[in-house]
Amino acid sequence: MSAQKAPPPTSNVALDVRDLRMRYGTKDVLTGVSFTADRGEVLALLGPNGAGKTTTIEILEGFRMRSAGEVAVLGQDPAHGDEAWRARLGVVLQSWRDHGRWRVRDLLGYLARFYGPYSTAEVTRPWDVDELIKVVGLAEHARAKVQTLSGGQRRRLDVAIGIVGRPELVFLDEPTAGFDPHARREFHDLVHRLADFENTTILLTTHDLDEAEKLADRILVLDKGAIVANGSAERLARELTTQAEVRWTVDGHRHVHAVTEGDPTGFVRELLAHDTEVTDLEVKRASLEDTYMSLVHRAETSQAETSQAETSQAETNPSETRPAESQAATNGSGRTGEVQS
Ligand SMILES: Nc1ncnc2c1ncn2[C@@H]1O[C@H](COP(=O)(O)OP(=O)(O)O)[C@@H](O)[C@H]1O
Ligand SMILES: [Mg+2]
Repeated sequence: MSAQKAPPPTSNVALDVRDLRMRYGTKDVLTGVSFTADRGEVLALLGPNGAGKTTTIEILEGFRMRSAGEVAVLGQDPAHGDEAWRARLGVVLQSWRDHGRWRVRDLLGYLARFYGPYSTAEVTRPWDVDELIKVVGLAEHARAKVQTLSGGQRRRLDVAIGIVGRPELVFLDEPTAGFDPHARREFHDLVHRLADFENTTILLTTHDLDEAEKLADRILVLDKGAIVANGSAERLARELTTQAEVRWTVDGHRHVHAVTEGDPTGFVRELLAHDTEVTDLEVKRASLEDTYMSLVHRAETSQAETSQAETSQAETNPSETRPAESQAATNGSGRTGEVQS
């Protein structure tokens, strides 16, 4: 039987983060982050550099003390996580460059032994090393020295090291940074396999929206320390397909209007009725990429506006408002501005 008492039957919630705050000195980096993850769910934490992704992950891993908020990781506060709790987590660090002279199988076998005592009735720990080597696609390199592996192979070894203890929850901080497309695709297969066959909960960070869309059941967009979007790629895309951008030219000036609700047809009809000089009319549905960029942009401008007067918005600045735009500004369903061509 197992050396360790099986954990109490836990809820289906693997991660529960409420109003998480982090301040470095006088700088507020996380200003109230809340989200949950169910068991087996793959979450992508997306956001520009400096958004606070690594900070969030390190707090959840128990490597960094938070300033405030409630955090439960596999039912436990990571600030007080014990060894048995830690054994249930997988943390994928940057490459194990110090172990260049070890052979792949020997290194994994050595690390695997630490997890034996944490085997439970539900989860047999560690992975069988040969099986794991196959799962991560390193079977042909089992006898190779770590220093001879390519970048992509090395990263797969990093993942193998992170999951050798058969974790219930895996944290991956920018796992594919620097990957070529082939290594990226192989890594994506591995993540799918962990989620589908092992029911592993995965929280990964990336600033690649395409990657988030491919891998994640749910995408969280973190910007300037707060979650500005939380939903499946489909949901984010659907919310966004209700958005459209209308562009047109009058007197050589290019204009753009974002229709944030409903059908852009009404706006276009009004526009053409009010302004007969309109040319080069274009209506474009927003892609998920556009949505992501506009979310991030909106979060950034709303922050800037707390310290600045709202003089930059065309809809509040009469001198920039043309007849067609004032119509748009009063219907309350969008934003209009003049664009540089
Ligand atoms: N130990 C630290 N001390 C002070 N500031 C830090 C520390 N770690 C990160 N920061 C700052 O916190 C912000 C968020 O950083 P980080 O969590 O690394 O973001 P991301 O991973 O999204 O790029 C950045 O402005 C960064 O400079
Ligand atoms: Mg980071």
